[in-house]
Amino acid sequence: MRTLIQHGTIVNADSTVKADLLIDGAKIKEIRASIPATVAETVVDATGLLLLPGGIDAHTHLDMPFGGTTSADDFLTGTRAAAIGGTTTIVDFAIQARGTKMRTALDTWWKKAEGKACIDYGLHMIVTDLPDAGLEDMDDLVCEGVASFKLFMAYPNVLMVDDATIFKALKQTAKNGALICMHAENGSVIDVIVQQALAEGKTAPIYHALTRPTVAEAEAVHRAIAMAEMAGVPVYIVHLSSEDALNQVREARDRGLPAFAETCPQYLLLSIEDNMEGRGWEGAKYVFTPPLRERINLPKLWDGLRSDNLQVVSTDHCPFCFEDQKALGKNDFTKIPNGGPGIENRLQLLHHHGVGQGNFSLNRFVELVSTAPARIFGMYPQKGVLAPGSDADIVLWDANADHTISAKTHHMKVDYSMFEGFRVRGNARDVYARGELIVSKGEFVGKPGRGQYLRREARGGAWK
Ligand code: URP
Ligand code: ZN
Ligand code: ZN
Repeated sequence: MRTLIQHGTIVNADSTVKADLLIDGAKIKEIRASIPATVAETVVDATGLLLLPGGIDAHTHLDMPFGGTTSADDFLTGTRAAAIGGTTTIVDFAIQARGTKMRTALDTWWKKAEGKACIDYGLHMIVTDLPDAGLEDMDDLVCEGVASFKLFMAYPNVLMVDDATIFKALKQTAKNGALICMHAENGSVIDVIVQQALAEGKTAPIYHALTRPTVAEAEAVHRAIAMAEMAGVPVYIVHLSSEDALNQVREARDRGLPAFAETCPQYLLLSIEDNMEGRGWEGAKYVFTPPLRERINLPKLWDGLRSDNLQVVSTDHCPFCFEDQKALGKNDFTKIPNGGPGIENRLQLLHHHGVGQGNFSLNRFVELVSTAPARIFGMYPQKGVLAPGSDADIVLWDANADHTISAKTHHMKVDYSMFEGFRVRGNARDVYARGELIVSKGEFVGKPGRGQYLRREARGGAWK
């Protein structure tokens, strides 16, 4: 089955060309000017539209148990919403339960996705327990396509691991080529500040943010990079939220170290002042970790995206309904499940506020939301680029489409939007995933369960 997309503008991270694109089965067959319509069964007119490589969201939490509840989107609702927003691949997080094998968690997450995933998905493994005898288990997971592991420097007694464990895991990646992703916040110090706040009767959602100083993030980023330097391997900082933390990444990169970092739309567009201060319980909608920061940080993160000190924008999509799930922490901010929704809106927000507001070019937009995550997480050039031989994951993007983000119209299974009322210009019209039309004029038309598990390559730091 061949589909010819004619007259569009093809945008990759390194080029923009007006050309036709021919899909043959699941792959891109050809890109060139004036491919004759006779070669294809289906011909699509993309005049006035951009063709982008499908978005890759390298940080999602679907159907994830956390804080006595489970994130509200499962692999069906979450990946369907992602597709409508122009994302054709996610990398979700499986969680090793303490005292169990990582392999068990991998099987559990495969089952969660089975029959549900609407787009292709990879899995990172969250390591909570790594005895010396378990180090080679990491290598076994790499053989299963789990090319990255996340370790936590926060959440003591729940997910946090000590520096020795982090260092051993980093050293193991020198052998197996995987990438360590760090949740970098000094959890022990934060815990002391949190207990003090609670003792003073400070229980409202805003205290979640006020008890997690940016220095606690910067210190952990510094430590993570230092440990990676001693182990002689790259490291990737997830959900970086503040200028202080960014400065640590920049210093390391200026010294030539392979330190990488992502940020998320919420840290680029929302703040304590705008979304938490004076808003009482409403602030629970913005309780995630790291927390929202003061407004002064926002332009610094945009600078980071422009200067390539931040390489990726992902969502950290981890939705909990305001009505019944966030309510678990009504009298105590530490009991509010941490996380916020965003899987559907990443491309819209980055296109509007990044390209539309002149922060960066269309090519850089593509790099941040698709090409760089594909390279860093071992999916390139199967994903992350429009080129012959690559998967036909293609977004027909209408750069002039106006849309107002709202929980009333979004497709995520959560009762609020962090970006309620945000007006954006630019939206996905049609989406192809491995050659199948899965979104047509903004409506999902794909088949749940069509998404496949992606065996990612452990590249050992070969990014470019
Ligand atoms: O608050 C957040 N970010 N929840 C998801 C877990 C994590 O740390 O990424
Ligand atoms: Zn995290
Ligand atoms: Zn996360």
